[in-house]
Amino acid sequence: MKIGVLTGGGDCPGLNAVIRAVVRKSIQDGHEIVGIKEGWRGILEKNFVPLNRDSVSGILHRGGTILATSRTNVYKIPNGEATVIQNMNEAGLDALVAIGGEDTLGIAAKLFKAGVKVVGVPKTIDNDLYGTDFTFGFDTAVNIATEAIDRLHTTAESHNRVIVVEVMGRHAGWIAVYSGIAGGADIILIPEKPFDIEEVSAVLKKRHSEGRSFSIVVVSEGAKLMTEEKTDKDGSFILSSMKTDAFGHVRLGGIGNVLAEEIEKRTGFETRSTVLGHIQRGGSPTAFDRVLGTRFGIFAAELVEKGEWGKMAALKGTEIVAVSLEEAVGQLKTVDLNLFNVASTFFG
Ligand code: F6P
Repeated sequence: MKIGVLTGGGDCPGLNAVIRAVVRKSIQDGHEIVGIKEGWRGILEKNFVPLNRDSVSGILHRGGTILATSRTNVYKIPNGEATVIQNMNEAGLDALVAIGGEDTLGIAAKLFKAGVKVVGVPKTIDNDLYGTDFTFGFDTAVNIATEAIDRLHTTAESHNRVIVVEVMGRHAGWIAVYSGIAGGADIILIPEKPFDIEEVSAVLKKRHSEGRSFSIVVVSEGAKLMTEEKTDKDGSFILSSMKTDAFGHVRLGGIGNVLAEEIEKRTGFETRSTVLGHIQRGGSPTAFDRVLGTRFGIFAAELVEKGEWGKMAALKGTEIVAVSLEEAVGQLKTVDLNLFNVASTFFG
């Protein structure tokens, strides 16, 4: 078989580990492997590169993706689906391995219905893809955020300040909850639990009245207010940049600064904010993500070998299993409220 592999959506530490595993296993199985550059855009524009053992040598520890990525939505482009099928045929591609999150795999699921032989690998630092316990990239992002919280703790304490740390997490607060628990956050705000600024301020005031002189507030970029004040229709903060991508997602970022201002106004405590942003997506993957990415890549190559199209590699407990792409993209995996309760035990 001639198999194409692509990485789509936001980049994520561990992508190269997956690519390396898919390439090495597929070559062992006697197949030819072609890299598709910049996600779905690469098929539409016939941007292909041959991949061999040498092309994936020395990439396991590297962040980003050697194939580059984009947020191209095939179904927003006139005749997009037909062009993908035609270009695959012209290039002699028998099958595809799509590595991506809900958007990239959502396209894979639709193409599968249109007859394309495709399998998926779940990627996102947000960890919000349904059907898998964890996506690769999440562990690295959590470790980066935790280290940042540790560092912010010492400066917050020295200056008797409140520091608001904004982490990524568009629809789900997994990074906030994990890094918040690991870093000992005093409050964690996530999209799944709309918050009230008055309540947040009251918790901080009580904490400081009981002898604490500083606080760390971790907030997901997609956290929502309970009230209408300063919010969009769905409760998200109105932010300076309201641009959307090809999948209609608003570009987030900025809630931390707004929140810091509001907290300072209400409590009188000197407050600062830090937005971690794309630092959480850059650099070397952790050992956990390298191993998970490698296992996912091998499993995806096995799905191709067995002709199990329309499926995605997923982690369930300690096992890698197959779940249907349709099931995985049908809903989001939001934060388990029992886990949030563990975190909230330490609030205040
Ligand atoms: O989906 C992963 C993610 O990092 C989100 O946490 C974030 O909202 C978004 O991507 C940022 O996208 P971009 O890199 O296109 O600004």
